[in-house]
Amino acid sequence: MFRDIAGVDDVLPGGMKAYAVEGREFVLCNDEGRFYAFQRRCGHMNAPLDMGTANGFIITCPLHSVQFDATTGKALSPPVPPYSMWEEPPPSTPDNFSRWISQLMAHVKTCDIETYPVKVEGGRVSVDI
Ligand code: FES
Repeated sequence: MFRDIAGVDDVLPGGMKAYAVEGREFVLCNDEGRFYAFQRRCGHMNAPLDMGTANGFIITCPLHSVQFDATTGKALSPPVPPYSMWEEPPPSTPDNFSRWISQLMAHVKTCDIETYPVKVEGGRVSVDI
């Protein structure tokens, strides 16, 4: 069921904004007048994608930089940095430990994200969510 979510001017071109309908979080993205809607939480480790960046319909997660296609929800890249945690033991210093944890995150499976149909009519954006 399409729901009226925003005016076309509420999300600036190149921008993203998070919304929630009945507890379901999603992001509205404005790609130069083309609007896309997709789940707010990253398919890797749930970071809020609206805090990442949008380059057209390519969305980059703020946490480990997985990129998603906002038109299909497909994950286009793995988390960074790619690393094999078994190549060496965990470092002992706090800085190195943080780096090690970050690298460990690269091994968490990344799932595609859900996308939702969008309609723009009369200056309003509706999302089928
Ligand atoms: S949480 Fe999004 S890439 Fe890791």
